[in-house]
Amino acid sequence: MDSLVHIDPDTQDLLFRAARTANTFSSDPVTEEQVRALYDLIRWAPTSMNAQPFRMVLAQSPAARERLLPYMSEGNRAKTASAPLVAILAADINFHEHLPQLAPYNPKAKDNFADDEM
Ligand SMILES: Cc1cc2nc3c(=O)[nH]c(=O)nc-3n(C[C@H](O)[C@H](O)[C@H](O)COP(=O)(O)O)c2cc1C
Repeated sequence: MDSLVHIDPDTQDLLFRAARTANTFSSDPVTEEQVRALYDLIRWAPTSMNAQPFRMVLAQSPAARERLLPYMSEGNRAKTASAPLVAILAADINFHEHLPQLAPYNPKAKDNFADDEM
C-alpha cells in the first residue's frame, strides 16, 4: 500500500483512476435490495452539523421515466430513457427543520437558517 495514501491501490483505481461516467446501461433491473444497500452506504457521508440534507427520488416504471424526460437537457434524454432506474439526487432546502433532532447539542442551529433565502 502506498504509505502516503491510506486506501489500497485497487480501491484507489475503483474510485479515481478507473471510474468513468456511465453513458450506456444494461436492461438488467436494479433491485430494491441493491438500492437499499447503496443508500445504506452513502448515508454515512459526513454533513455539516449532521444536517443530512440529501434526498433521493427513484424513477423506475416506464411511466415515471417518461414523465421525467421533458425536464432533462436534450443530450441526456435518450440515455435516461434507456436506464433501468433513474435516481434524482437532491438537497432538502428545509433541512434545518430537522436540526433539533439531528444536532440536539446545538438547540439554536435551526434558527440560524430560518431567515435564509433559497
Ligand atoms: C458539473 C458537471 C456536469 C455534468 N453534466 C453532464 C451531463 O449533463 N451529461 C452527461 O452525460 N455527463 C455530464 N457530466 C459528466 C462529464 O461529462 C464527465 O464527468 C467527463 O466527461 C469525464 O468523463 P469520465 O467520468 O468518463 O472520466 C458532468 C460532469 C460535471 C462535473
